[in-house]
Amino acid sequence: MSELSFIHRYVPATEPGRPPLLLLHGTGGNEDDLLPLGQIISPGSALLSPRGKVLENGMPRFFRRLAEGVFDEEDVRARANELADFIIEARDAYGLEPPVAVGFSNGANIAAALMMLRPEILAGAALLRGMVPLGDPPKTDLAGKLVLLVSGQLDPIIPADNAARLAAQLTAAGALVNHKVLPIGHGLSQADIQLCQTWLKALS
Ligand code: MLT
Repeated sequence: MSELSFIHRYVPATEPGRPPLLLLHGTGGNEDDLLPLGQIISPGSALLSPRGKVLENGMPRFFRRLAEGVFDEEDVRARANELADFIIEARDAYGLEPPVAVGFSNGANIAAALMMLRPEILAGAALLRGMVPLGDPPKTDLAGKLVLLVSGQLDPIIPADNAARLAAQLTAAGALVNHKVLPIGHGLSQADIQLCQTWLKALS
């Protein structure tokens, strides 16, 4: 479906009361990637899954980077605002409550930027392999927002201190951050799924 401002997939809820999920793919992914994950971690939730608009050598992303782990922060800000506006459109079009973001890698990073720049947009966020998207984020009030950050101890892309800094930034803004570090790399695992399931149950 593509009438709204992002190419996206939308799957309506089949279980009332479950939070809608905003699914945000990693570099080179698309709007189909995380639908199975969304269905497994919160069966019956409405799923909203946009495709990132930035292309890096043909690979969709949610914002521009200058090198691996080095972000174009001006673009991060512009793209997070553009995505926030899409979420408002989609909530209106589909009649949705504020969604919980579930983002992987680049998708986790744009979700973190969304929280810091437009704190009213998301009800919470599961950031799978997230890192700091903004070195100097604006002062934001995330009081009471729940965030799950899942890092990989062996992740070759995200240094442990970077993930810890993201947790600290969100905590400083008042979010209730649960930071788990798994003994794995950048890819998702069964343990990520279980952590998301447990965290989402506590949230609804
Ligand atoms: C990024 O946003 O660039 C991620 O942290 C790494 C990736 O998406 O490959």
